[in-house]
Amino acid sequence: MTQDELKQKVAQAALHYIKDVSIIGVGTGSTVKHFIDYLADFKGQIEGAVSSSEMSTAHLKKVGIPVLDLNSVGTLDVYVDGADEVTPHKHMIKGGGGALTREKIIGAASKQFVCIVDETKCVDVLGKFPLPVEVIPMARSYVARELVKLGGQPVWRENVITDNHNVILDVHNLDIIDPIKLEQIINNITGVVTVGIFAMRPADVVLVGKGDEVITR
Ligand code: A5P
Repeated sequence: MTQDELKQKVAQAALHYIKDVSIIGVGTGSTVKHFIDYLADFKGQIEGAVSSSEMSTAHLKKVGIPVLDLNSVGTLDVYVDGADEVTPHKHMIKGGGGALTREKIIGAASKQFVCIVDETKCVDVLGKFPLPVEVIPMARSYVARELVKLGGQPVWRENVITDNHNVILDVHNLDIIDPIKLEQIINNITGVVTVGIFAMRPADVVLVGKGDEVITR
């Protein structure tokens, strides 16, 4: 199977988790894109979805799924999203697609986080994938200097403005041995909106597309 076929297969497997759920949290990325395609079959059966990005919102609307405001919905039963890296502890790096802030909000507001990945995303230690950090634009250089003090090499994702009108620094060469601690430390840098370590609120279930099968962790 190609990587994209694996993504499609895990996206399909996630449908098991939305049985009897009327409002679904929906992430962002190429894996979730397949999940949204499958959601089209639930049109009329589900009330709608809370979306983590303008990109997913556009796709949801295109397939006929109403997009709802998290503020009017309250706690979500299930949130389905991809990841850039995931460990056996279900800690993740997210934000490769730039949607990390809304993704973290929906994750926090959901009872169950179902992470869907192909096997290439599974790692023992986070950090090979450059860590995305969403930053208030005027704080970009200051935050970059603070990230250097932590041992990272931040690279400004030029020409990218997030859905929240901020910028992204991708931090290379971080050895993320203690993800919860580093998430807290980077969160505390003034000017940081969101760090792409998802460890304080990890996934609850990880579905991994591997070979011909989907493994549940
Ligand atoms: C979006 O900002 C990310 O958090 C995505 O969830 C992550 O990059 C996975 O994307 P793919 O499914 O495209 O690999």
